[in-house]
Amino acid sequence: MQSQSITKPVSDETLPDHAPGKCLMDRRSFLLTSGLTTATVMVAMTPGVADAQKVPAVVSTYPRKFVAKIGDLKPDVPIDFTYPDEGAYAESMIVRLGVPAGGGIGQDRDIVAFNNYCTHQGGDLGATYKGDTKSLGACPLHLSTYDLTRHGILISGQAYQSLPQVLLELEGDKIMAVGVFGLIFGRYDNLQG
Ligand code: FES
Repeated sequence: MQSQSITKPVSDETLPDHAPGKCLMDRRSFLLTSGLTTATVMVAMTPGVADAQKVPAVVSTYPRKFVAKIGDLKPDVPIDFTYPDEGAYAESMIVRLGVPAGGGIGQDRDIVAFNNYCTHQGGDLGATYKGDTKSLGACPLHLSTYDLTRHGILISGQAYQSLPQVLLELEGDKIMAVGVFGLIFGRYDNLQG
């Protein structure tokens, strides 16, 4: 039996020219890498058997979930939510940074969202947001700290992977979560936690 994964982009919008920092992806790369839609096709291979049984395709798609209204967000005041489901390690936060950020939405591209669990050993980063440095951390276990303006890249500490970023889209004044960029701690697949 063989399996094949196919990843499809859903948009090719670009980040604004004023987006800061060097390690930012344009929005097309961000969407491509986040794998918003993943179809896994399983094909039964039985050499010499003409009527080999076919296995149905498995399709995993991130849910489109309402997070908050844009007017609900005050600068540097995070709001908690869960995504992509209600399972383990789904707790996440959304915040208006007040400065443009990679993957940011809104008029100023400053609204971002991230999973709340440290990629090192799953330390709970809830309530560790720092408005002066636009960072999440330090992790209570081994002090990892993540830069929310640059896709959650590690600033310092024991972790070696960026914090998973929740991909956002605007629907009128509603902010919708539509995907996750990076693997959530404790999961082998973000959609099958
Ligand atoms: S669990 Fe966060 S730094 Fe180790």
